[in-house]
Amino acid sequence: MESNKKVIFSGIQPSGDLTLGNYLGAIKNWVKLQEEYECYFCVVDLHAITVKQEPKDLRRRTLEVLAIYLASGIDPEKNTMFIQSHVSAHSEAAWLLTCSTYMGELSRMTQFKEKSKNSESIGAGLLTYPVLMAADILLYQTNLVPVGKDQTQHLEIARDIAERFNKTYSDTFVIPEPYIGKLGAKIMDLQEPTNKMSKSGENVNGFILIMDPPEVIRKKVNRAVTDSVGIVKYNDEQLGVKNLMTILMAITGISMGEIEAKYDGLGYAQFKKDVAEAIVAELEPIQIKINEYMGQKSYLEEIYKKGSEKANYVANKTLRKMQKKIGFIPR
Ligand code: AMP
Ligand code: TRP
Repeated sequence: MESNKKVIFSGIQPSGDLTLGNYLGAIKNWVKLQEEYECYFCVVDLHAITVKQEPKDLRRRTLEVLAIYLASGIDPEKNTMFIQSHVSAHSEAAWLLTCSTYMGELSRMTQFKEKSKNSESIGAGLLTYPVLMAADILLYQTNLVPVGKDQTQHLEIARDIAERFNKTYSDTFVIPEPYIGKLGAKIMDLQEPTNKMSKSGENVNGFILIMDPPEVIRKKVNRAVTDSVGIVKYNDEQLGVKNLMTILMAITGISMGEIEAKYDGLGYAQFKKDVAEAIVAELEPIQIKINEYMGQKSYLEEIYKKGSEKANYVANKTLRKMQKKIGFIPR
């Protein structure tokens, strides 16, 4: 069962419909990494309930995220795909690690500060969320965590927690490194390119969903905010254009220089059209497969059951080690 390959762990929350940002920032990189590493790809449903979820939607989306992993090209024969709540070690380890985490470091997290800004009744889970994420990662003795740029702070705290535990109780965890893809690390909102593209964005024209039909994708790209400069050039003065270029590059692999040369003197209309077509060409085949997988619930079940068997085995091994070192009586 054990291999000599380095270990990768990553996950996505089934808390909303997935966006092009999730796809380019996370999943597309996973597909590339799966050959070289021993990978665990998780649907993090425990994280999703840090904000209110409709049970029916949560069920559907959990399966849909798994279907998206498969449809994007994650091979179930080579990787372990599972649902976080099916491996109870995650919740248990999160508690043990909570006791090695400081209030100060949690309340300093940007995501917590943003999500708790305008609310009176903030769930405590929003604060302790990074500890659960640390448990996810550390239970598998993970070497590398491929995520979008927005997760670097959470990775940093996972490393701090691991180092602290190792120091207090002797070496237990591998210290994980972030893997931020060169392309698509941060896809921005199409309407407000200073903000990250997010499934919880307010303006629907700001984000592209993995499941958006081609005509919707074309419309959203066409409406994407640009500027009055009129030149396709990669720079921080033209954030809208820069973002569209990033998307095009992340999908097609064409370099910034080639894109600039290709659209020299052509203006934005043709550029936007090509960006839209590139997205459609990438997502349409995936959408077809997602729909197929969603019609094969027993196949999905087979995959997540097999995945959780392996994940439980590995995670429990680490959990027992933690419990023993802390001083709990072995069961
Ligand atoms: P979440 O949707 O918060 O569960 O994020 C799942 C993964 O997608 C994480 O690795 C994020 O860093 C990544 N991600 C989310 N939004 C974006 C974005 N706009 N650009 C790049 N990566 C993103
Ligand atoms: N917090 C991550 C996000 O919102 C999702 C996540 C949970 C995760 N556990 C993880 C990502 C472990 C990588 C590794 O994007």
